[in-house]
Amino acid sequence: RSRARTAPAAAAAVAALILLAGCTGDTDGSVRGTPGAAGLRDPYFPKLGNGGYDVRHYALTLAYDPRSGRLDATAEITARATQDLSAFNLDLTGLTVDRATVDGAPAAVNRAGNELTLRPREEIDRGREFRTTVAYSGVPEKITDGDGAGEGWLRTKDGALALGEPVGSMAWFPGNHHPSDKATYDITVTVPQGLRAFANGTRTSERTRNGRTTAVWHSPEPMASYLATVAVGRYETRTATTPSKVTVLSAADPSVAAASRVLLDRIPELLEWAEENFGPYPFSSAGAIVEPTGDVGYALETQTRPVFPQSSFDLPTLVHELAHQWYGNSVSPATWRDMWLNESFATYAEWLYAEDFEDTPAQESFEEAFAADANWAFPPAEPPTAENLFDPPVYQRGAMVLHKIRQKVGDDTFYEILAGWPAKHRHGNASTDDFIAYVEDVAGEDLSGLWDVWLYGDGRPTSP
Ligand code: ARG
Ligand code: ZN
Repeated sequence: RSRARTAPAAAAAVAALILLAGCTGDTDGSVRGTPGAAGLRDPYFPKLGNGGYDVRHYALTLAYDPRSGRLDATAEITARATQDLSAFNLDLTGLTVDRATVDGAPAAVNRAGNELTLRPREEIDRGREFRTTVAYSGVPEKITDGDGAGEGWLRTKDGALALGEPVGSMAWFPGNHHPSDKATYDITVTVPQGLRAFANGTRTSERTRNGRTTAVWHSPEPMASYLATVAVGRYETRTATTPSKVTVLSAADPSVAAASRVLLDRIPELLEWAEENFGPYPFSSAGAIVEPTGDVGYALETQTRPVFPQSSFDLPTLVHELAHQWYGNSVSPATWRDMWLNESFATYAEWLYAEDFEDTPAQESFEEAFAADANWAFPPAEPPTAENLFDPPVYQRGAMVLHKIRQKVGDDTFYEILAGWPAKHRHGNASTDDFIAYVEDVAGEDLSGLWDVWLYGDGRPTSP
């Protein structure tokens, strides 16, 4: 039976329509919050990351079955709102979202490509800390970068490996996947008995129950999401302690364990050398993960525990990835345009190691880099596209910039800059402009001539 619609009922219907249209209101009827931005306008990946909140902590609980390749997981994300939020986004590639909550209440989830939009039942006030949980599952994807490298979730012969530079981490957990939003992590991984899981930081427990082994990994220092890793497989481990009392825990696939032992055991002495030059090691744990060649195509400086294919597990690459713990991991790029800061310092660390231990002055490495045409394709802080982020100018021409600074300011000031830069931005982010200002401040002079030619100039200067 029908009933004449009264004015209050009509008003309620209008309010319901407004709610359906996506404008949440407060109990007093006012609408203050707006949706957080769907991207942070990174020059290379504009949709990467999300606006309106700052993640403090990720607690990731993963169960992985290498036979099916299936991941069943929960991400618990603790964040602080940086604006009044009616909705906010998370980045996620592939996988299925099974349910989501914000502060315990179910949240509506919308999906468009790699963007998840979560609409909490109540608005989140600016400045408030809130907790989001996302239950998700499926077979995580391998992502092929513009330069042909594989990242994201890589299946190996007995397990899997998660690599995230620059955008691969969204293939295995939802989050704010821009390097500017760093957070602490707890990563819990359950795998079939007989396999083990390694990740970043300190392992706080590992136990086997009902045919499955669960390891809990804790990263107490902030980490950019591209540096998060999980390695599942069979592993032989090595443990040690550095002279400065950092615990070193490394894992190598059994097929490469014997071949990698000598180099793995040099990590404490290499870190000691690095600390003398770059300042205190920024994290509470260290190590490496060595995989068979073929399962992974390149080494990556995953935080505290860099990953290597056996074929590039050599001294220069180990020095390079250890140096990234200061340059890139502790002080991280503000945007992907600043990646040359990561690679220039890591490359220069190789040059310094060769100078200190192999009778090859950095000047010689500089001249060799100067002579190679490939290093002059573009200025290091201006890769033409995302496909060029890992090209030689970012590494070698970047290191040449550092060498020109050294020539200009002298060794004492240069070593002050080497240690001072990661100390100034410890566990933070910094841009190329921050670097220029910092160097000029320490040097006490304007170096625009140097930047114009070596950092920003088109092509190779007439003489080295
Ligand atoms: N940052 C890594 C290193 O310097 C290289 C990562 C390569 N990734 C890629 N997509 N090509 O060792
Ligand atoms: Zn590197």
